[in-house]
Amino acid sequence: MAPSNVAVIGLQWGDEGKGKIVDALARRSKYVVRFCGGANAGHTVLIGQDKFILHLIPCGVLSERVTNIIGNGVVFDPVGASEEISELTSRGVHIGPDNLKISANAHMVMPWHKQADVLIEQSLSEGSKIGTTARGIGPCYADKANRSSALRVGDLLDTKRLTERIRQVGAAKSRAFQALYDAEPIDVEAIVSSYTELAGKLSDMVCNTGAILRRAVRDGERMLFEGGQGSMLDIDHGTYPFVTSSPVTACGIPTGAGIPPSAVGQVVGLIKAYTTRVGAGPFPTEQDNETGEYLRERGKEYGATTGRPRRCGWFDAVAVRYAADISGVAELALSLLDVLTGLDEIKVCTAYRIGGRKTDEFDPAEMSAAECEYESLPGWSEDICQCKRFEDLPEPARNYVNRIESMVGRRVGFISVGPEREQTIVHNSRIEGLK
Ligand code: IMP
Repeated sequence: MAPSNVAVIGLQWGDEGKGKIVDALARRSKYVVRFCGGANAGHTVLIGQDKFILHLIPCGVLSERVTNIIGNGVVFDPVGASEEISELTSRGVHIGPDNLKISANAHMVMPWHKQADVLIEQSLSEGSKIGTTARGIGPCYADKANRSSALRVGDLLDTKRLTERIRQVGAAKSRAFQALYDAEPIDVEAIVSSYTELAGKLSDMVCNTGAILRRAVRDGERMLFEGGQGSMLDIDHGTYPFVTSSPVTACGIPTGAGIPPSAVGQVVGLIKAYTTRVGAGPFPTEQDNETGEYLRERGKEYGATTGRPRRCGWFDAVAVRYAADISGVAELALSLLDVLTGLDEIKVCTAYRIGGRKTDEFDPAEMSAAECEYESLPGWSEDICQCKRFEDLPEPARNYVNRIESMVGRRVGFISVGPEREQTIVHNSRIEGLK
């Protein structure tokens, strides 16, 4: 049992600003662990004037003395990872086998997975398209479940086997894509050569990460589990089929990292002061109007991975409470509160009306028919970017935070009022490293 471990989980549709809180907690952790998703994530961390956007590499690489783990539950893209490592290294960030360890059991994203994402999406009718990031995530997890057509990171350690598997699976994918989508044949030999080269670069980092983490659990060393995406995109509990393809709530941590559930520790639920969603699917509080535009421009709501404009809307307390209950969230971290500055009125969804019935339960299957009931709260006009303590915030901003606490039923431990490390208010937190 390792009671000081912390997990940071997004409670909305992703992009809740995880990078900043993960960075703050990483500095006090021995291990930072990714357990789900892949290069579809985009975590932005601002250190002074330096902006880092991490997709696959855990945020702990930006802190010294942290061992970063890419767990078995991640789908690992060696092309994207290698580019990300080169970019970070060129900016003075140290990354090597001493501080980055990649699970040999993680499944490997292949070029045909990215191609499948595009081909499948193109073949879907309007209204059925998922809005995937085209990083090959869904097709890679599908092959993981299929077993016979998957490659794992451990295959990088044996060039002969790697070559054989790429030729065998690549040829089958090529035939399938030609037959189903009239696609050009896949250049399998080009993939053999690029993946063999990548194996040379990455294989020193490939190992049995589960064993490392279970030893750390026994030794009581502190771990931080870095969630990707957001709970509403969870494959089981999100707004299926408009979801990603992995378990992204705290329930995914034990499986995706190879540790016992009792070692997950305390869960911090990350929320934006409003809501965004990128890609298709139900979004009850969406404001496809001037308010949404205001939030998008002030919050710079454009995807960190794809650059797509994000859909924006009011805070949804029903959805967040549902997500907090699934992950057993101990406290909330509230980001982007400063984006709401300048609005006369701020609305929060407190219940839905579905077919004339009122409910405060979130049922993903019903969300496309849900209409929101709102509570209206007064806004504020003062600039809050320099506030250092909760008491420094204007009264309406304090009220807003207090209402979120009571509606979601969890304390708010951490409030972000700007992108920089220092623009953070620690409030009510009981998490070691935040309080
Ligand atoms: P995929 O995981 O790339 O297949 O994308 C599936 C859906 O999840 C799409 O709507 C994406 O926009 C969304 N998605 C995936 N990863 C993220 C993320 O890190 N932040 C926000 N949305 C995401």
